[in-house]
Amino acid sequence: MSGAVHAYHDGTKHHFQKFARSLGYLDWASQPNPFRSFAGADDHPLHPRPDAAGSGSATAVEIGGILRHSLGLSAWKQFRDSRWSLRVNPSSGNLHPTEAYVVAGPMAGVSDAPAVYHYAPDRHALERRCTFEPAAWTSAMAGGENAWLIALTSIHWREAWKYGERAFRYCQHDLGHAIAAVRIAAELAGCRAQMLPGWSHADIAALTGIDRDEDYVDAEREEAGCILVVTGRQSSVFSPESSVPSPQSPVPSPQSPVPSREALLDAVRRGRWTGRANQLSEDHVQWTFIDEIAAATRDPGRTILPIPNQLPDYPITRLPDRALVLQRRSAVSFDGRGSIDAARCFAMLSAVMPREGPPWDALWWDARIHLLLFVHRVNGLDPGIYLLARHSSAPDRIRAASGREFLWEPCHDSLPLFALVRGDCRALAQRVSCDQAIAGEGFFSLGMIADFDASLQAFGAAFYRHLFWESGVVGQVLYLEAEAAGTRGTGIGCFYDDPVHDVLGLTGHAFQSLYHFTIGSPVEDTRLSTEPGYAWERGVLA
Ligand SMILES: Cc1cc2nc3c(=O)[nH]c(=O)nc-3n(C[C@H](O)[C@H](O)[C@H](O)COP(=O)(O)O)c2cc1C
Repeated sequence: MSGAVHAYHDGTKHHFQKFARSLGYLDWASQPNPFRSFAGADDHPLHPRPDAAGSGSATAVEIGGILRHSLGLSAWKQFRDSRWSLRVNPSSGNLHPTEAYVVAGPMAGVSDAPAVYHYAPDRHALERRCTFEPAAWTSAMAGGENAWLIALTSIHWREAWKYGERAFRYCQHDLGHAIAAVRIAAELAGCRAQMLPGWSHADIAALTGIDRDEDYVDAEREEAGCILVVTGRQSSVFSPESSVPSPQSPVPSPQSPVPSREALLDAVRRGRWTGRANQLSEDHVQWTFIDEIAAATRDPGRTILPIPNQLPDYPITRLPDRALVLQRRSAVSFDGRGSIDAARCFAMLSAVMPREGPPWDALWWDARIHLLLFVHRVNGLDPGIYLLARHSSAPDRIRAASGREFLWEPCHDSLPLFALVRGDCRALAQRVSCDQAIAGEGFFSLGMIADFDASLQAFGAAFYRHLFWESGVVGQVLYLEAEAAGTRGTGIGCFYDDPVHDVLGLTGHAFQSLYHFTIGSPVEDTRLSTEPGYAWERGVLA
C-alpha cells in the first residue's frame, strides 16, 4: 500500500552528495505563465474591485473578500526590467501551482443560475465555467443555499518546470498554505471553511471541469486537491450524507456540513460549460515519477469519525487582521544578530498547537506534524535542539523510534516542548536546510516531522498529500505569527532529508521530515521597488 509512496518519497530526497532529479538548470523559454485563464468564459470582477459585479449580493461580496485575503495578489515587485507579482499565499519558488474554483448559487448581478467559476487572481475576477439548474443547487445544499464551495487544484508543471521530480511535494505544501489562507480569510469575513473528506478526487475533477479533455487541448492539466465548504459561522446547515454506520463508513460528525455530492455532480455534468484553458508553456519536460505518485495518492473519498482533539486549547495572542495577511512576505535573508524573547517564541509555538479554532478546524484529522526546533537566538531559552509535540502520543513514540540518547527535559508549563540537546546548532541547522544561511541566522529554524507510516496505514496512500497539507497549514500560521511580531519567516522546501532524520536518530519511515521553516530579523532588498497587488489599491494600501 505504502510502496509507491515510499518509492516516490525516498526517490525525491535530497542527499548531501546528490539532489533529487531535476533538469539542473532553468529553461527560461518554457517558463510557465503564472496565471491560468479560460478564453471564452464570462469574466466577473470581484469585490472589493471598484467595478465589481454583484455588489448587491452578500455572497458575492463574501466570496470577493475571502479570495482577496487568501489567494489574491499582495504586491508587485520590480528590479530593473523584471516585474513579478506576489500573493497572499506563499509558494515554493513563487511558481504558484494552486488554482481555485468556486461553486455558488445564483448571485444578483453575477449570475441568475448557480455556477462553477475559476478564480483569476491577476484580475481578482471569477471566470464563469459552467451554469447549471437552480433546482439542483437547492436540493444539493438542502437549506444551506448561501453556503458555497471552494475547490483547490494543482498544476504540477508549474513547479516541475523548476524543481523536477520533487515538485509534487511542493505542490502539496502550497496547497496546505492555500487551505490555511482560505480558512483564515473566511474567519475575517465572519465565516467558516471546512474540508469535505467525502469528495473523491474524481468528484472534485468533475465538479471543477478539470476532467474535461475538450477544454484542455494543448493546456497543462490540473490535479484535484481538496474541496471546502464556506458557511456563516453559526450555521450548521447540512445534514450528513449518510447516517448509516459501517466499518468502511463510520458515522460522520453531526456538525460536518456535507452538501449532496451526487445532485451537484449530476447537475454540472448536464450544465452549460464555456471557456478553454490557456497553455502555460510551449515546451514541457515529462516527469513520469510525478504522474505515478499523483495516481498512487488519488483519494477515493471517505466518511470519517470526528477525531477528538487530545490536547488542551493553548492561548493564542491574537488572530491576524486583513492588513497583516496582505503584508505577509518571505524573508530572503536575516541579519544574524536580532533575537526575540522566550515569551514571544512560546506564543508562536502556542499558535501552531491544534485547537478548535481557525485554521485547524478546516482539517478533519488530528495533528500529525511535530516540530524539531533549532533554537539560535531566543532570550531566556538556551540555544539547542528542542521538540514540540503537537499530539499527546508523539513524545513517547518519537523517543522509542529515536536511536539517540537525549535530555527530553520539559521546558514549559503547558506547551509540550522538550529540550533534547543544549548547544550552538546554527551550523547544523544551516547544513541540513540545503546550506541556506536563513536556517542558521534567524531566531530559530525547524523541521516538521510527520508521523508518516502510521498515518498512511490509518488513512491510506492518499493521506501522503494531507501530511504535506498539514505542514503547509503550520507554515502559514508561522508566517503570520512572524509578521505579527514585526519579524519575518520563510518556508524551506529544500533540505537534506535523511541527515535531518539522523539528527533525531530516526531510521525507517515511522517519522519523516516534510518541510522546514525559519524566523528571524529580515534584511530588506532595497534594490526592489514595490507596488500594491491591484491597480485600484494604489493610494489605498501603498
Ligand atoms: C513550500 C515552500 C517552500 C519554500 N522553500 C524555500 C526555500 O527552500 N528557500 C527559500 O529561500 N525560500 C523558500 N520558500 C519561499 C518562497 O520562495 C516564497 O514563498 C516565494 O518566493 C513567494 O514570496 P512570498 O512568500 O514573499 O510571497 C518556500 C516557500 C514555500 C511555500
